[in-house]
Amino acid sequence: MQHPKRFTITAALPYTNGPVHIGHLAGVYIPADIYARYQRLNEKDVLFVCGSDEHGVPITIKAKKEGISPQEVVDKYHDLIKTSFNKFGISFDNYSRTSAPIHHQTASDFFIQLYNNNKFEEETTQQLYDAEANQFLADRFVVGTCPKCGFEESYGDQCENCGTSHNATDLINPKSAITGNTPTLKETKHWYLPLNEYEAWLKEWILKEHKNDWKSNVLGQVKSWTDDGLKPRAVTRDLDWGIPVPVTGGEGKVLYVWFDAPIGYISSTKEWAKNNNQAWEPYWKDENTKMLHFIGKDNIVFHCIIFPSMLKAHGDYILPENVPANEFLNLEGNKISTSKNWAVWLHEYLDEFPEKQDVLRYVLTANAPETKDNDFTWKDFQARNNNELVAIFGNFINRVVVLTNKYYQGIVPAPNDFTVVDDTTLDQLQKYPDIIARSIEKYRFREALSELMNLARLGNKYLADEEPWKQIKTNPDRVQTIMFVAIQIASALAVLCEPFLPFTSNKLKSILNFSNLTNQNSWQSVSTERVLIPDHHQIGKAELLFAKIDDAEIQKQLNKLEATKESNKEFIPEPIKDTITFEDFTKLDIRIGTVLEAEKIPKTKKLLKLKVDVGTDTRTIVSGIAESFKPEDIVGQKVSVLVNLAPRKLRGVESQGMILMTDTPDGKLAFIEPDNDSVSNGESVS
Ligand code: MF3
Ligand code: ZN
Repeated sequence: MQHPKRFTITAALPYTNGPVHIGHLAGVYIPADIYARYQRLNEKDVLFVCGSDEHGVPITIKAKKEGISPQEVVDKYHDLIKTSFNKFGISFDNYSRTSAPIHHQTASDFFIQLYNNNKFEEETTQQLYDAEANQFLADRFVVGTCPKCGFEESYGDQCENCGTSHNATDLINPKSAITGNTPTLKETKHWYLPLNEYEAWLKEWILKEHKNDWKSNVLGQVKSWTDDGLKPRAVTRDLDWGIPVPVTGGEGKVLYVWFDAPIGYISSTKEWAKNNNQAWEPYWKDENTKMLHFIGKDNIVFHCIIFPSMLKAHGDYILPENVPANEFLNLEGNKISTSKNWAVWLHEYLDEFPEKQDVLRYVLTANAPETKDNDFTWKDFQARNNNELVAIFGNFINRVVVLTNKYYQGIVPAPNDFTVVDDTTLDQLQKYPDIIARSIEKYRFREALSELMNLARLGNKYLADEEPWKQIKTNPDRVQTIMFVAIQIASALAVLCEPFLPFTSNKLKSILNFSNLTNQNSWQSVSTERVLIPDHHQIGKAELLFAKIDDAEIQKQLNKLEATKESNKEFIPEPIKDTITFEDFTKLDIRIGTVLEAEKIPKTKKLLKLKVDVGTDTRTIVSGIAESFKPEDIVGQKVSVLVNLAPRKLRGVESQGMILMTDTPDGKLAFIEPDNDSVSNGESVS
């Protein structure tokens, strides 16, 4: 499939339990939008779809917290999110929602087709149940230790630490997220998609056929899951918020959110087709359509293993050509967190920097977490605006427009003979559409953007070398040619910046009066036409494309984050636990100990194996503190140890106790230690 004509581009459906932030934009929506806009400029038939992901446990939890219904939660955030995307120029052809009837119908039909063709295994098993809450504990309703990496706050369906997706019953030491109780087991029937049956095919299709064109982070994750062996996955849940299971025996159950949500891409396409009197099938069933899923790295398993297996089981659909997944964006050195309010929310940015959508688009693209996690800082935001957008791009355009107005009343002058410099400059200019396209087509948007800036640099250098402002008195014929060439560069920038900086592109096109041109400049015409704007064409007056951002504006944002940090310190969100009796308390045997040895447990991020002298004896304790401490730094450290905790195995090592820790405001851990050095090992804490 060398030159597909049709593209179906999807961007992950955001969960509708909070607003969207810069991490979402950088990881998913901007790259998807750049790609969609580029292919449209390339005259392809592009359908770019998205919508709100409105089912799933996080939404029910949010509703419980706020004392409103799940529907009220999603109604509130659906509008907010949709508006934010729109204001940032994310050019979806359709933005739907999974609570829409068309989606319920599409997802039900999909399930029924698989059911009728015996693609599911029906199984009655023991599932985690919270008797007090009178509820099964699916997905995020249960928290426990990840069986793979030892992370202690893994959810029932997925570990956010290592990205593994598992079944709730795989969790070690599970706890109900509703009551904190240890769940009991209760029998229930569910439908499973036997992923094991798709394993060989997935390996062949992704790891062999796509080994050279998919991103290495994506291939790496797929390889790691298939190496572990895929297991059947339940696609139904005992919950009351979601799409009812449409077959007998499914009463009171709903489809698993990760079963219904990706089908949302199909329903969004159908909704678009209906509203625009088009056919939806070519975008999902024609082998010549290139389908791309833009996602963040936590979504890889669902888009590379589960959804493709569903599509394959269904049989009518094409598979994605690529799944360009990004890593995560941090903010000022810390992980973006909705619950800690550690984020730059798009609706707030728009309030504070109205008209600066392209600045954020620029910074997030230039700094996109394409191959590794990356950091957004306000200082970098300011520097990129002032030193790149203003000083390079804006400055070049401004000079061209101001001088054309000054010398020629805005009428493009007729060129005289071209010098070698003029010719090479125009030759170089004509190469840019291909240079930028090559990077975009490999999903290297940072690289593509830096090439776009190189074109602006080319313009600046040309003007600086030719110095029209010096030659205007002595050699006006020469200046006509210089300005003519410079105007061609400005015009190329107007076309080629559109995928990245759509607002700027529009503004620049209007300054250059594109609407009065006879030739409609397309991506390709920049390569093929030496003249994009002919002489005698009238352009408009200069307008600033970008304005400097001063220190005070940046300081304001930094202060806001500082205040967030402070308030996180003051209000530790952990609820106070239920009251216990003194007898309960005396059951805990907590003692002072000293760390004698510490080593990292291989292939885990968090776990250290410690030898601790607790006075009575020396114990092996596995502790999830490796992200806060280096083994060599804690030998000799005094610690508090719960010594009568039942031993348990973690990553094959038996842990004989627990080190007590507390959190610091910057997300690290700290030891609880006596403030007097003379306290000896074995002293009890009471
Ligand atoms: N709501 C999910 C998230 O925010 C993404 C869903 S993508 C889809 O991580 F494919 F399921 F739609
Ligand atoms: Zn894990």
